[in-house]
Amino acid sequence: MKITVFGAGYVGLVVSAFFSENGHDVVCVEKNKEKVESLKRGRVPIYEPGLEEMVLKSLSKGTLEFVVEGAEAVKKAEIIFICVGTPSNQEGSADLTAVWEVLDEISQNLNGYKVIVLKGTVPVGTGDAALAYLKEKAKVDFDVVSNPEFLREGSSLYDFTNPSRLIIGAQSERAIEVMKKVYAVQLEKGVPALLTDRKSAELIKYASNTFLALKISFVNSLARLCEAFKANVEDVKRGLGLDPRIGPNFLNPGPGFGGSCLPKDVRALTKTCEEANVPFPLLKAIIDSNSLQKEFVVQKLKKILGGFRGKRIGVWGLAFKAGTDDVRESPAIDILERILIEGEEINIRAYDPHAMENSRKVLPEVEYVSNPYLACEEVDILLILTEWKEFREVDFSRAKEMMSSPRIFDTRNILPRNELESLGFSYFGLGRAK
Ligand code: UDX
Repeated sequence: MKITVFGAGYVGLVVSAFFSENGHDVVCVEKNKEKVESLKRGRVPIYEPGLEEMVLKSLSKGTLEFVVEGAEAVKKAEIIFICVGTPSNQEGSADLTAVWEVLDEISQNLNGYKVIVLKGTVPVGTGDAALAYLKEKAKVDFDVVSNPEFLREGSSLYDFTNPSRLIIGAQSERAIEVMKKVYAVQLEKGVPALLTDRKSAELIKYASNTFLALKISFVNSLARLCEAFKANVEDVKRGLGLDPRIGPNFLNPGPGFGGSCLPKDVRALTKTCEEANVPFPLLKAIIDSNSLQKEFVVQKLKKILGGFRGKRIGVWGLAFKAGTDDVRESPAIDILERILIEGEEINIRAYDPHAMENSRKVLPEVEYVSNPYLACEEVDILLILTEWKEFREVDFSRAKEMMSSPRIFDTRNILPRNELESLGFSYFGLGRAK
């Protein structure tokens, strides 16, 4: 099929790479010229396992093209995926400027039947509004489909190939047939497809991310409660997750949820509820609890250190989660900012396998070092903020020798406490009694 994808961010690149790898002709339209130039040379500007290789392969096969102007790409497309960003605006609702710009460009170039797919996270009613807008402007037949993505950064390609479900918000048989054709690979694998209306599809996306955020905030609150009672949140979480009605996933306590989706989507749904005059008090609780969790980490660290003044803190992990170089709304960045505001003469030495370049842009006050051991040099404590697997493989005897004080605050509960204690470390986790 001839596919056009608007936007070369995480979602747009994954969509483009997957379809071009799977026998379709894909044109990816991105208005950032520098990005397009670098993509044409096969340089993917984000760290996402497997993505660059797939892009390079499709570029060399000639099934993928990157362009700045969308007109020709719209004209020749059978299906158009809109994957541009919908960031939070100041009031917390989704900023749809980029989506409307794309719709405008599409409206000027519609030359025959096409399916226009809203892939990004857009507020309820956006698909219907897009349809009405295009109908007013264009005289040809077309369909608008809401088909939200559920891609986790760090495993986006896997998630696109093996999604838990395909949500297809479409109101015409013709559009449904096109969607089934484009997702043939996933459907042949038996991935369930839920056919629904556009508004319900849009709401499913917000409901999913908000529910995940709720689970995390819930377990983080439990971790705080466990600390108060010297109970063990790791056991509590296991006991909770063994109930099949609850399930074990997304119950890992940590420094709070971050990233480009969960926080933004909870805020946007809050705004939607306000506008619709529908009380949904849980949403505010999720946001408040997440902020509280970050402050809890800061205050616990301060207590362990006996105050921040003049302290040297080693940090492992800056990305909002493992497997990505993304620091958008990363709890690590937020926590380090709070520490720097709270105390004077603090020295922070930080290491992250992939996110240091991005961190440097938002947090220049921190000293960035090239390996986990250097982050331990003469520090009063080691603070772990992202759950990178490689942190478990460090030689802790060597790390200990470099530290002024052998203390570890592991906010992700990823390290073997007993082993570390037998090496002479004072270990502090989250909700693990100490
Ligand atoms: C999310 C959704 O999972 C995905 O389906 C959606 O389409 C895009 O948004 P992503 O932003 O990549 O994906 O991150 P996710 O894996 O959901 O993690 C979000 C945050 O929650 C991270 O900061 C992570 O560390 C934190 N988290 C996750 C926890 O603290 N505990 C958990 O148990 C799980």
